[in-house]
Amino acid sequence: MIGDQKVLFSGMQATGNLTLGNYLGALKNWVDIADEYLTFFSVVDLHSITVRQDPAELRSRARKLLALYIAAGLDPEKNCIYYQSHVSGHAELAWILNCFTYMGELNRMTQFKDKAAKHADNINAGLFTYPVLMAADILLFQADVVPVGKDQLQHLEITRDIAQRFNAIYGDVFTVPEPYMGKVGAKVMSLQDPEKKMSKSDENPNASIYLMDDPDTVIRKFKRAVTDSEAQILYRDEQPGIKNLIDIYSACTGKTADEVVKEFDGRGYGEFKMAVGESVVTVLKPLQDRYNELIKDKAYIDSIIKNNAQKAEYYSLKTLRKVQKKVGFPERIR
Ligand code: TYM
Repeated sequence: MIGDQKVLFSGMQATGNLTLGNYLGALKNWVDIADEYLTFFSVVDLHSITVRQDPAELRSRARKLLALYIAAGLDPEKNCIYYQSHVSGHAELAWILNCFTYMGELNRMTQFKDKAAKHADNINAGLFTYPVLMAADILLFQADVVPVGKDQLQHLEITRDIAQRFNAIYGDVFTVPEPYMGKVGAKVMSLQDPEKKMSKSDENPNASIYLMDDPDTVIRKFKRAVTDSEAQILYRDEQPGIKNLIDIYSACTGKTADEVVKEFDGRGYGEFKMAVGESVVTVLKPLQDRYNELIKDKAYIDSIIKNNAQKAEYYSLKTLRKVQKKVGFPERIR
Protein backbone atom coordinates (compact mmCIF):
# COMPACT_ATOMS: atom_id res chain seq x y z
CA MET A 1 0.00 0.00 0.00
CA ILE A 2 1.07 3.54 -0.66
CA GLY A 3 -1.24 5.89 1.23
CA ASP A 4 -4.69 4.42 0.62
CA GLN A 5 -3.77 2.97 -2.78
CA LYS A 6 -3.21 -0.69 -3.44
CA VAL A 7 -0.04 -1.29 -5.41
CA LEU A 8 0.77 -3.71 -8.21
CA PHE A 9 4.36 -4.47 -9.23
CA SER A 10 5.61 -6.78 -11.93
CA GLY A 11 8.46 -7.10 -14.38
CA MET A 12 10.00 -9.07 -17.21
CA GLN A 13 13.49 -9.73 -18.40
CA ALA A 14 14.60 -8.30 -21.71
CA THR A 15 16.41 -11.47 -22.65
CA GLY A 16 15.32 -13.54 -25.63
CA ASN A 17 12.12 -13.07 -27.56
CA LEU A 18 8.95 -12.89 -25.54
CA THR A 19 6.72 -15.94 -25.87
CA LEU A 20 3.02 -16.63 -25.69
CA GLY A 21 3.78 -17.93 -22.17
CA ASN A 22 5.00 -14.51 -21.08
CA TYR A 23 1.89 -12.97 -22.58
CA LEU A 24 -0.77 -15.33 -21.25
CA GLY A 25 0.97 -15.91 -17.91
CA ALA A 26 1.80 -12.29 -17.17
CA LEU A 27 1.36 -9.42 -19.61
CA LYS A 28 -2.29 -10.14 -20.38
CA ASN A 29 -3.15 -10.22 -16.67
CA TRP A 30 -1.25 -6.99 -16.09
CA VAL A 31 -3.50 -5.27 -18.60
CA ASP A 32 -6.64 -6.93 -17.21
CA ILE A 33 -6.16 -5.78 -13.61
CA ALA A 34 -3.99 -2.64 -13.91
CA ASP A 35 -6.89 -0.21 -13.46
CA GLU A 36 -7.50 -1.37 -9.91
CA TYR A 37 -4.02 -0.43 -8.66
CA LEU A 38 -1.20 2.05 -8.54
CA THR A 39 1.06 0.15 -10.92
CA PHE A 40 4.75 -0.28 -11.62
CA PHE A 41 5.86 -2.37 -14.60
CA SER A 42 9.60 -2.67 -14.86
CA VAL A 43 11.89 -3.87 -17.61
CA VAL A 44 14.22 -5.71 -15.25
CA ASP A 45 17.58 -5.21 -16.91
CA LEU A 46 19.57 -5.65 -13.67
CA HIS A 47 18.28 -9.22 -13.57
CA SER A 48 19.33 -9.83 -17.16
CA ILE A 49 23.06 -9.49 -16.55
CA THR A 50 23.11 -12.54 -14.28
CA VAL A 51 23.64 -14.25 -17.63
CA ARG A 52 26.19 -12.74 -20.06
CA GLN A 53 24.60 -10.31 -22.48
CA ASP A 54 25.76 -8.47 -25.54
CA PRO A 55 25.46 -4.81 -24.40
CA ALA A 56 24.00 -3.38 -27.62
CA GLU A 57 21.59 -6.27 -27.89
CA LEU A 58 20.43 -5.89 -24.28
CA ARG A 59 19.81 -2.17 -24.75
CA SER A 60 17.83 -2.77 -27.91
CA ARG A 61 15.76 -5.57 -26.41
CA ALA A 62 15.01 -3.53 -23.31
CA ARG A 63 13.58 -0.73 -25.43
CA LYS A 64 11.52 -3.16 -27.48
CA LEU A 65 10.16 -4.75 -24.32
CA LEU A 66 9.16 -1.38 -22.94
CA ALA A 67 7.29 -0.62 -26.19
CA LEU A 68 5.67 -4.03 -26.02
CA TYR A 69 4.24 -3.33 -22.58
CA ILE A 70 2.47 -0.34 -24.10
CA ALA A 71 1.45 -2.22 -27.25
CA ALA A 72 -0.16 -4.88 -25.05
CA GLY A 73 -2.49 -2.21 -23.70
CA LEU A 74 -0.81 -0.54 -20.72
CA ASP A 75 -1.30 3.21 -20.84
CA PRO A 76 2.06 4.76 -19.82
CA GLU A 77 0.30 7.87 -18.51
CA LYS A 78 -1.48 5.74 -15.92
CA ASN A 79 1.00 2.91 -15.43
CA CYS A 80 4.58 3.50 -14.45
CA ILE A 81 6.58 1.66 -17.12
CA TYR A 82 10.32 2.03 -16.58
CA TYR A 83 13.78 0.48 -16.68
CA GLN A 84 14.93 -1.10 -13.42
CA SER A 85 18.48 0.22 -13.99
CA HIS A 86 17.18 3.82 -13.97
CA VAL A 87 16.06 3.54 -10.35
CA SER A 88 19.02 2.95 -8.07
CA GLY A 89 16.79 1.98 -5.14
CA HIS A 90 16.43 -1.54 -6.55
CA ALA A 91 20.12 -2.30 -6.09
CA GLU A 92 20.38 -0.43 -2.80
CA LEU A 93 17.47 -2.23 -1.21
CA ALA A 94 18.71 -5.55 -2.63
CA TRP A 95 21.97 -5.11 -0.73
CA ILE A 96 20.15 -4.49 2.53
CA LEU A 97 17.84 -7.47 1.97
CA ASN A 98 20.83 -9.67 1.15
CA CYS A 99 21.74 -9.24 4.78
CA PHE A 100 18.33 -10.60 5.78
CA THR A 101 18.33 -13.66 3.52
CA TYR A 102 19.92 -17.01 4.29
CA MET A 103 22.17 -19.00 1.97
CA GLY A 104 20.07 -22.07 2.74
CA GLU A 105 16.91 -20.35 1.45
CA LEU A 106 18.60 -19.34 -1.78
CA ASN A 107 20.06 -22.81 -2.21
CA ARG A 108 16.55 -24.22 -2.45
CA MET A 109 15.50 -22.04 -5.40
CA THR A 110 14.73 -24.28 -8.36
CA GLN A 111 15.35 -21.54 -10.91
CA PHE A 112 18.87 -21.08 -9.55
CA LYS A 113 19.51 -24.79 -9.85
CA ASP A 114 18.21 -24.83 -13.45
CA LYS A 115 20.17 -21.76 -14.49
CA ALA A 116 23.35 -22.93 -12.76
CA ALA A 117 23.10 -26.19 -14.70
CA LYS A 118 22.56 -24.31 -17.97
CA HIS A 119 25.36 -21.77 -17.39
CA ALA A 120 27.89 -23.96 -15.62
CA ASP A 121 30.75 -21.74 -16.83
CA ASN A 122 29.28 -18.65 -15.15
CA ILE A 123 27.62 -19.45 -11.82
CA ASN A 124 28.06 -15.92 -10.49
CA ALA A 125 26.89 -14.54 -7.15
CA GLY A 126 24.23 -12.47 -8.92
CA LEU A 127 22.61 -15.61 -10.23
CA PHE A 128 22.50 -16.91 -6.67
CA THR A 129 21.09 -13.73 -5.09
CA TYR A 130 18.71 -13.07 -7.99
CA PRO A 131 15.61 -13.74 -5.81
CA VAL A 132 16.77 -11.08 -3.33
CA LEU A 133 16.85 -8.48 -6.10
CA MET A 134 13.39 -9.62 -7.09
CA ALA A 135 12.22 -9.22 -3.49
CA ALA A 136 13.73 -5.73 -3.48
CA ASP A 137 11.81 -4.84 -6.68
CA ILE A 138 8.54 -5.81 -5.11
CA LEU A 139 9.08 -4.49 -1.59
CA LEU A 140 10.54 -1.18 -2.79
CA PHE A 141 7.08 -0.22 -4.03
CA GLN A 142 5.11 -1.77 -1.16
CA ALA A 143 3.33 -3.99 -3.66
CA ASP A 144 0.14 -5.71 -2.55
CA VAL A 145 -0.13 -7.85 -5.63
CA VAL A 146 2.37 -9.32 -8.10
CA PRO A 147 0.93 -10.90 -11.25
CA VAL A 148 3.29 -13.64 -12.44
CA GLY A 149 3.30 -17.06 -14.05
CA LYS A 150 3.58 -20.22 -11.97
CA ASP A 151 7.38 -20.47 -12.38
CA GLN A 152 7.82 -17.33 -10.25
CA LEU A 153 5.78 -18.49 -7.24
CA GLN A 154 8.81 -19.72 -5.33
CA HIS A 155 10.40 -16.28 -5.69
CA LEU A 156 7.21 -14.68 -4.39
CA GLU A 157 7.30 -17.01 -1.40
CA ILE A 158 10.86 -16.00 -0.48
CA THR A 159 9.89 -12.34 -0.95
CA ARG A 160 7.12 -12.80 1.58
CA ASP A 161 9.51 -14.54 3.99
CA ILE A 162 12.07 -11.74 3.73
CA ALA A 163 9.38 -9.07 4.24
CA GLN A 164 7.97 -10.83 7.28
CA ARG A 165 11.42 -11.37 8.75
CA PHE A 166 12.30 -7.71 8.33
CA ASN A 167 8.94 -6.54 9.71
CA ALA A 168 9.34 -8.80 12.74
CA ILE A 169 12.55 -6.95 13.63
CA TYR A 170 11.73 -3.36 12.65
CA GLY A 171 7.94 -3.07 12.73
CA ASP A 172 5.58 -2.83 9.77
CA VAL A 173 7.97 -1.55 7.13
CA PHE A 174 6.99 -3.66 4.13
CA THR A 175 3.65 -4.66 2.67
CA VAL A 176 3.67 -8.46 2.38
CA PRO A 177 2.75 -9.15 -1.26
CA GLU A 178 0.40 -11.75 -2.73
CA PRO A 179 0.98 -13.41 -6.10
CA TYR A 180 -1.75 -13.12 -8.72
CA MET A 181 -2.29 -15.75 -11.40
CA GLY A 182 -4.98 -15.94 -14.07
CA LYS A 183 -7.42 -18.87 -14.19
CA VAL A 184 -5.68 -20.22 -17.29
CA GLY A 185 -2.29 -19.56 -18.83
CA ALA A 186 -0.20 -19.51 -15.64
CA LYS A 187 1.98 -22.24 -17.13
CA VAL A 188 1.96 -22.44 -20.90
CA MET A 189 3.85 -25.54 -22.01
CA SER A 190 6.26 -26.13 -24.89
CA LEU A 191 4.59 -27.11 -28.17
CA GLN A 192 7.30 -29.71 -28.77
CA ASP A 193 7.48 -31.17 -25.26
CA PRO A 194 4.29 -30.54 -23.28
CA GLU A 195 5.99 -31.69 -20.05
CA LYS A 196 8.27 -28.61 -20.22
CA LYS A 197 7.25 -24.96 -19.90
CA MET A 198 7.34 -22.74 -22.97
CA SER A 199 10.53 -20.75 -22.59
CA LYS A 200 12.27 -17.82 -24.30
CA SER A 201 15.53 -19.72 -24.12
CA ASP A 202 14.33 -22.94 -25.77
CA GLU A 203 16.70 -23.88 -28.57
CA ASN A 204 13.94 -25.31 -30.75
CA PRO A 205 12.02 -22.37 -32.28
CA ASN A 206 9.03 -24.66 -32.95
CA ALA A 207 8.58 -25.16 -29.21
CA SER A 208 7.52 -21.56 -28.60
CA ILE A 209 5.20 -19.02 -30.14
CA TYR A 210 6.99 -15.68 -30.13
CA LEU A 211 4.86 -12.59 -29.78
CA MET A 212 6.20 -11.23 -33.04
CA ASP A 213 5.65 -14.44 -35.06
CA ASP A 214 3.65 -13.74 -38.22
CA PRO A 215 0.31 -15.55 -38.70
CA ASP A 216 1.72 -18.22 -41.04
CA THR A 217 4.46 -19.10 -38.55
CA VAL A 218 1.97 -19.29 -35.69
CA ILE A 219 -0.34 -21.63 -37.62
CA ARG A 220 2.58 -23.77 -38.80
CA LYS A 221 3.90 -24.17 -35.24
CA PHE A 222 0.48 -25.23 -33.95
CA LYS A 223 0.07 -27.72 -36.80
CA ARG A 224 3.35 -29.29 -35.71
CA ALA A 225 2.53 -29.25 -32.01
CA VAL A 226 3.26 -32.56 -30.31
CA THR A 227 0.07 -34.27 -29.07
CA ASP A 228 -0.79 -37.98 -28.72
CA SER A 229 -2.55 -40.81 -30.49
CA GLU A 230 -5.69 -40.88 -28.33
CA ALA A 231 -7.70 -39.12 -31.06
CA GLN A 232 -10.00 -37.40 -28.56
CA ILE A 233 -10.02 -33.84 -27.32
CA LEU A 234 -10.30 -34.14 -23.55
CA TYR A 235 -8.93 -31.97 -20.75
CA ARG A 236 -6.87 -34.38 -18.69
CA ASP A 237 -3.33 -34.90 -17.41
CA GLU A 238 -2.88 -38.07 -19.50
CA GLN A 239 -3.00 -35.87 -22.63
CA PRO A 240 -0.62 -33.01 -21.75
CA GLY A 241 -0.25 -31.77 -25.34
CA ILE A 242 -3.99 -31.47 -25.90
CA LYS A 243 -4.47 -30.05 -22.40
CA ASN A 244 -1.97 -27.31 -23.18
CA LEU A 245 -3.73 -26.49 -26.45
CA ILE A 246 -7.08 -26.31 -24.65
CA ASP A 247 -5.54 -23.94 -22.08
CA ILE A 248 -4.13 -21.70 -24.80
CA TYR A 249 -7.45 -21.68 -26.67
CA SER A 250 -9.32 -20.90 -23.41
CA ALA A 251 -6.97 -18.06 -22.55
CA CYS A 252 -7.31 -16.55 -26.04
CA THR A 253 -11.08 -16.90 -26.40
CA GLY A 254 -12.32 -16.62 -22.82
CA LYS A 255 -14.08 -20.01 -23.12
CA THR A 256 -13.80 -22.53 -20.29
CA ALA A 257 -12.07 -25.91 -20.77
CA ASP A 258 -15.50 -27.62 -20.62
CA GLU A 259 -16.86 -25.40 -23.36
CA VAL A 260 -13.83 -26.11 -25.54
CA VAL A 261 -14.16 -29.87 -25.04
CA LYS A 262 -17.84 -29.65 -26.06
CA GLU A 263 -17.07 -27.44 -29.06
CA PHE A 264 -14.55 -29.94 -30.46
CA ASP A 265 -16.33 -33.14 -29.49
CA GLY A 266 -15.86 -35.69 -32.29
CA ARG A 267 -13.60 -33.40 -34.33
CA GLY A 268 -10.01 -34.14 -35.34
CA TYR A 269 -6.73 -32.84 -33.93
CA GLY A 270 -5.91 -31.11 -37.25
CA GLU A 271 -9.04 -28.99 -37.10
CA PHE A 272 -8.52 -28.22 -33.42
CA LYS A 273 -4.90 -27.15 -33.91
CA MET A 274 -5.99 -24.78 -36.70
CA ALA A 275 -8.60 -23.22 -34.41
CA VAL A 276 -6.06 -22.76 -31.60
CA GLY A 277 -3.58 -21.19 -34.03
CA GLU A 278 -6.23 -18.80 -35.35
CA SER A 279 -7.28 -17.77 -31.84
CA VAL A 280 -3.66 -16.90 -31.08
CA VAL A 281 -3.26 -14.93 -34.32
CA THR A 282 -6.39 -12.95 -33.40
CA VAL A 283 -4.86 -12.01 -30.06
CA LEU A 284 -1.37 -11.24 -31.38
CA LYS A 285 -2.25 -9.27 -34.51
CA PRO A 286 -3.47 -6.04 -32.83
CA LEU A 287 -0.54 -6.15 -30.41
CA GLN A 288 1.93 -6.50 -33.29
CA ASP A 289 0.30 -3.68 -35.25
CA ARG A 290 0.43 -1.31 -32.29
CA TYR A 291 4.01 -2.32 -31.53
CA ASN A 292 5.17 -1.68 -35.11
CA GLU A 293 3.66 1.83 -35.01
CA LEU A 294 4.96 2.64 -31.56
CA ILE A 295 8.56 1.55 -31.98
CA LYS A 296 9.00 4.15 -34.75
CA ASP A 297 8.02 7.00 -32.42
CA LYS A 298 11.36 7.66 -30.78
CA ALA A 299 10.42 10.95 -29.09
CA TYR A 300 7.31 9.44 -27.51
CA ILE A 301 9.14 6.43 -26.11
CA ASP A 302 11.95 8.64 -24.82
CA SER A 303 9.47 10.86 -22.99
CA ILE A 304 7.90 7.83 -21.31
CA ILE A 305 11.31 6.54 -20.25
CA LYS A 306 12.19 9.87 -18.70
CA ASN A 307 8.90 10.67 -16.97
CA ASN A 308 8.29 7.24 -15.59
CA ALA A 309 11.83 6.82 -14.26
CA GLN A 310 11.24 9.98 -12.24
CA LYS A 311 7.91 8.72 -10.97
CA ALA A 312 9.36 5.33 -9.99
CA GLU A 313 12.30 7.03 -8.30
CA TYR A 314 9.94 9.21 -6.28
CA TYR A 315 7.95 6.28 -4.90
CA SER A 316 11.02 4.09 -4.40
CA LEU A 317 12.73 6.69 -2.23
CA LYS A 318 9.84 6.71 0.22
CA THR A 319 10.51 3.07 1.08
CA LEU A 320 14.28 3.22 0.74
CA ARG A 321 14.74 6.13 3.15
CA LYS A 322 12.50 4.47 5.70
CA VAL A 323 14.46 1.21 5.47
CA GLN A 324 17.82 2.97 5.69
CA LYS A 325 16.69 4.72 8.84
CA LYS A 326 15.33 1.52 10.37
CA VAL A 327 18.58 -0.40 9.91
CA GLY A 328 20.59 2.44 11.44
CA PHE A 329 22.21 4.38 8.59
CA PRO A 330 22.95 8.01 9.51
CA GLU A 331 20.46 10.63 8.39
CA ARG A 332 21.25 12.72 5.31
CA ILE A 333 22.11 16.34 6.02
CA ARG A 334 20.62 18.72 3.45
P1 TYM B 1 10.56 -13.77 -16.94
O1 TYM B 1 11.12 -12.59 -17.67
O2 TYM B 1 11.23 -15.07 -17.10
O3 TYM B 1 9.05 -13.96 -17.33
C1 TYM B 1 8.13 -12.88 -17.30
C2 TYM B 1 6.79 -13.37 -16.83
O4 TYM B 1 6.28 -14.38 -17.71
C3 TYM B 1 5.88 -15.52 -16.95
N1 TYM B 1 6.11 -16.73 -17.76
C4 TYM B 1 5.18 -17.65 -18.03
N2 TYM B 1 3.89 -17.73 -17.70
C5 TYM B 1 3.19 -18.79 -18.15
N3 TYM B 1 3.71 -19.77 -18.93
C6 TYM B 1 5.01 -19.74 -19.29
N4 TYM B 1 5.50 -20.70 -20.07
C7 TYM B 1 5.81 -18.64 -18.84
N5 TYM B 1 7.11 -18.27 -19.01
C8 TYM B 1 7.28 -17.11 -18.34
C9 TYM B 1 6.76 -15.47 -15.71
O5 TYM B 1 6.19 -16.20 -14.66
C10 TYM B 1 6.82 -13.99 -15.43
O6 TYM B 1 5.68 -13.58 -14.71
N6 TYM B 1 12.26 -13.05 -12.33
C11 TYM B 1 11.23 -12.65 -13.27
C12 TYM B 1 11.21 -11.17 -13.55
C13 TYM B 1 11.09 -10.31 -12.35
C14 TYM B 1 9.91 -10.06 -11.61
C15 TYM B 1 10.31 -9.18 -10.57
C16 TYM B 1 8.59 -10.48 -11.75
C17 TYM B 1 12.12 -9.64 -11.75
N7 TYM B 1 11.63 -8.92 -10.69
C18 TYM B 1 9.37 -8.72 -9.62
C19 TYM B 1 7.67 -10.01 -10.80
C20 TYM B 1 8.06 -9.14 -9.77
C21 TYM B 1 11.50 -13.37 -14.57
O7 TYM B 1 12.60 -13.74 -14.88
O8 TYM B 1 10.42 -13.41 -15.40
